[in-house]
Amino acid sequence: MQFMKVAEILSSPQGAKVRTRGWVYRRRDLGGKVFVVVRDSTGIVQFVFGPDSPGYKDAARVTVESSVIAGGTVKDDPRAPGGKEVVGEEFRIVGLAENFPIRRDVSKEFLLDVRHLAVRSRRMTAVLKIRDTVFSAVHEYFRSNGYYEVQAPMFISAAVEGGATLFPVKYVDGSTVYLTQSSQFYLEALIYSLEKVYTIAPSFRAEKSRTRRHLTEFWHAEAEVAWAGLEDILRVEEELISFVVERVLERNREELALLNRNLEPLKNVVPPFPRISYDKAIELLQSKGLQVRWGDDLGADEERALTEFFDKPFFLYGFPEQVKAFYHKNDPSRPEVTLSADLLAPEGYGEIIGGGERIDKAEELVEKIKRFGLNPDDYKWYIDLRRYGTVPHAGFGLGMDRLVMWIAGLDHIVDAVAFPRTVARTYP
Ligand code: 4AD
Ligand code: MG
Repeated sequence: MQFMKVAEILSSPQGAKVRTRGWVYRRRDLGGKVFVVVRDSTGIVQFVFGPDSPGYKDAARVTVESSVIAGGTVKDDPRAPGGKEVVGEEFRIVGLAENFPIRRDVSKEFLLDVRHLAVRSRRMTAVLKIRDTVFSAVHEYFRSNGYYEVQAPMFISAAVEGGATLFPVKYVDGSTVYLTQSSQFYLEALIYSLEKVYTIAPSFRAEKSRTRRHLTEFWHAEAEVAWAGLEDILRVEEELISFVVERVLERNREELALLNRNLEPLKNVVPPFPRISYDKAIELLQSKGLQVRWGDDLGADEERALTEFFDKPFFLYGFPEQVKAFYHKNDPSRPEVTLSADLLAPEGYGEIIGGGERIDKAEELVEKIKRFGLNPDDYKWYIDLRRYGTVPHAGFGLGMDRLVMWIAGLDHIVDAVAFPRTVARTYP
């Protein structure tokens, strides 16, 4: 008999003969019977073996996380997970597991040490399924809106987002190169032929601070559009985020429920998103008693305070020149601020996207590079892009792990990634 997925068993009628393969989620011995809950990628189902059942001997000695083949007859049972139980008629151990190190009382740190095993948990499985939807929905959005998918190099020679978070790598020729912080500049080069481009790739930041929302290696969805301004790119961002959330609500109800995610804030995620200027944000924060002044960068605490004013994602726009990277175009009507915007997720989460309009004049770019204390020679090819058929253009970068963290309602970004890389962790 063929193998079925656990989900198929749970939707089979009473009396159906079923057979599956998976891993032992739990085993209980009760009143002379053995209850074995088997898990596969689709769910969990309980098998019950009495002393006379074929397979009883193996069922009685099987350990948690052993891989097994199990079969029997479906019986409705409201007490069993999923409302069905399988009266066991076959049980075979494929790989007997040693004593599984993960138990209820282990610490968070220990769970990260054994992440290669902890990824099997139902919680982690639910997050990874949501993450899968998020990634596929981002691709789907861009592909159905006329973008070309492109790939940029990971080894680079100059900073995109400031020198403080660059990861140096010793290159094959003995020189020092860096891991990329953003694919943006390469995307900018590609709009001259493809006009609308996107990529989903890792970005690296030597973040020294331990926070709930910083990884040293994160997945970055970036888009760049020729002939576009700030207004155009904000519309893309709100459409994209709304589309992704809609897909997750369609496909991952079960996973969201397992994670106890409140769905109401997600159902709210429809365009248009509210906007608040940096100036207004500073006033609001000051009125709440926070110690911020115009010109300061806003950190996690300030962002969290701002999210209390909104019940859906919102744009924070018009940042002062000094808090945004050099490539941001200054507002011609107000040169001390940039044509930039961050998108902040509600419920305390904060920034998930950074983007805006780029400087499109060579002289203006060279001047700003110098004003920022950087060397124009390091940005030769990037400046070149403005010398051969320059166009107004805009783009953005979306932190995929932060997006998953917010949609799944997680407390910490490491829970949004299978194998997180942080200041404190590169193992397993
Ligand atoms: O705001 P950032 O630094 O912007 C850029 O890198 C631009 N070059 C993107 C662009 O316009 N093409 O990063 C963009 C997003 C942030 O909003 C955040 O969601 C995520 O990337 N991000 C991180 N996520 C996890 N860990 C980190 N250390 C992150 N740094 C940035
Ligand atoms: Mg940012």
